[in-house]
Amino acid sequence: MARILITSAIPYINGIKHLGNLIGSQLPADLYARYQRGRGNEVMFLCATDEHGTPAELAAAKAEKPIAEYCAEMHGVQLDIANRFGLSFDHFGRSSSDQNKRLTQHFAGKLDEAGLIREVSEKQVYSNTDGRFLPDRYIEGTCPNCGYDRARGDQCENCTKQLDPTDLIDPRSAISGSTDLEVRETKHLYLRQSAMKDQLDAWIDSKADWPILTTSIAKKWLHDGDGLRDRGITRDLDWGVPVKKGDQDWPGMEGKVFYVWFDAPIEYIACAKEWADSTGKPDAEWERWWRTDKGADDVRYVQFMGKDNVPFHTLSFPATILGSGEPWKMVDHLKSFNYLNYDGGQFSTSQGRGVFMDQALELLPADYWRWWLLSHAPESSDSEFTWENFQQSVNKDLADVLGNFVSRITKFCRSKFGEAVPEGGVYGERENALILELTRRIRAYEGFMEAMEVRKSAQELRAIWVAGNEYLQAAAPWSTFKENPEQAAAQVRLGLNLIRLYAVLSAPFIPNASARMLSAMNTLATDWPDDVEAALNALPAGHAFTVPDVLFAKITDDQREDWQARFAGTRG
Ligand code: 2FM
Ligand code: ZN
Repeated sequence: MARILITSAIPYINGIKHLGNLIGSQLPADLYARYQRGRGNEVMFLCATDEHGTPAELAAAKAEKPIAEYCAEMHGVQLDIANRFGLSFDHFGRSSSDQNKRLTQHFAGKLDEAGLIREVSEKQVYSNTDGRFLPDRYIEGTCPNCGYDRARGDQCENCTKQLDPTDLIDPRSAISGSTDLEVRETKHLYLRQSAMKDQLDAWIDSKADWPILTTSIAKKWLHDGDGLRDRGITRDLDWGVPVKKGDQDWPGMEGKVFYVWFDAPIEYIACAKEWADSTGKPDAEWERWWRTDKGADDVRYVQFMGKDNVPFHTLSFPATILGSGEPWKMVDHLKSFNYLNYDGGQFSTSQGRGVFMDQALELLPADYWRWWLLSHAPESSDSEFTWENFQQSVNKDLADVLGNFVSRITKFCRSKFGEAVPEGGVYGERENALILELTRRIRAYEGFMEAMEVRKSAQELRAIWVAGNEYLQAAAPWSTFKENPEQAAAQVRLGLNLIRLYAVLSAPFIPNASARMLSAMNTLATDWPDDVEAALNALPAGHAFTVPDVLFAKITDDQREDWQARFAGTRG
């Protein structure tokens, strides 16, 4: 049994995520986690809310709530929605946890001991109007790299370049819009990433199987001009992890906190400790996932994230871990995604544009969204959500192909043989041909899932559903029944077994429908179909089942038009 550690980029606490965020990390990570569990592997799937930094502060200010209260509340909201979307985290933690505070301070101490931190007296932007420093997202302006005019002080969303507030052209305060800014002297800690350039370069070169999207972004920032600059890891903010070396004070750093991008990825590790602590397990239980000296050397660690997160995960976080000199588990495979656009523009949290997770679930159950998003994942390029495409894909794939198959075979069986798997003879030529085709396709599906090729996995799964429909159409037990009820019974037996097989194969994509199919088939047998012929004999003659309610309802044109109009503006 393999052991697989999976993390999804941890979403900012600043509000409910939109569907573009969901498909950028949490949902494909869940797909992979469910698949690996389905294959019988031991999985640790972690995610959390990213609660520090300017996104959190700005959102709390907007909500007119004390920040700690805001974060606690929003963590609950995000956890609830994640559950309702079927995101099967083993733990959904908080980057503001005590565990993360301690671990972040511990890493800083280790990096300092290794000589990888330098104290810098530097110039930061200070807003006279707001009476404060404006780090990161507190400041906006034009990107010096690509000219995008809404770049933020920490990163340009458009070209992914990591920035410093003083890099921005025509800067303005994100709090007040004021341009009455000046540059003031302040002291900060810098992580000497540049000293680790060769080590990082070699480490990235060792990852030959990483997708091109990932390595090209990493290499670009490693080699282009000032790509691997030393990074400031502290900020003049109130909210965050207080700057300390381990549990010792850091002279001169009083009142400052670590930069959110320093503590956020450390939460991947701290989250596992939160999991152990909250379930009363000893430290050894989480350390066997994260410490290579304590059992994690045989763990495969996979990270999921949007492309804008790649530099932090291929350069900054590895620099933290490598620099600590401690035996922490490092990522083996990093799967990154392009952006999902919304109906001719971008999804946007700040502008409230697009469909947000809570709104989506008000319209339709999670599986409809999961299927569409995963089968249209922005892998090789950005992709776009349109209501027409959503309607078409739900109606065709889920209702016509899968749903119809389930309903047709169960109803036919009930009317001719009753609600139990009929006996019939052994499978014949047509059934054996189907078994061969399914075997070939299921092996291909496994290959794509293993490789995290999300769209290709969806295509193969759909082809597996189609194969069953085509079989049923060609075998036509409703006709066979007239001359040869024995043969019709065998065909129906195969069809009912296919429902169970589909439930097992489809569970990573559409877990709720899959559970309903299993429950209708009255079985708990979810073994992976290593042997397809055996899998199609799992439900024996005489096994009772029930006809399920409609699995997937079609989206009508009226609904589509109504939703399209409702989501044309922005969220209030
Ligand atoms: O882009 C984001 O939503 C960040 N909150 C992701 C952080 S991932 C990690 F490093 F913790
Ligand atoms: Zn840019």
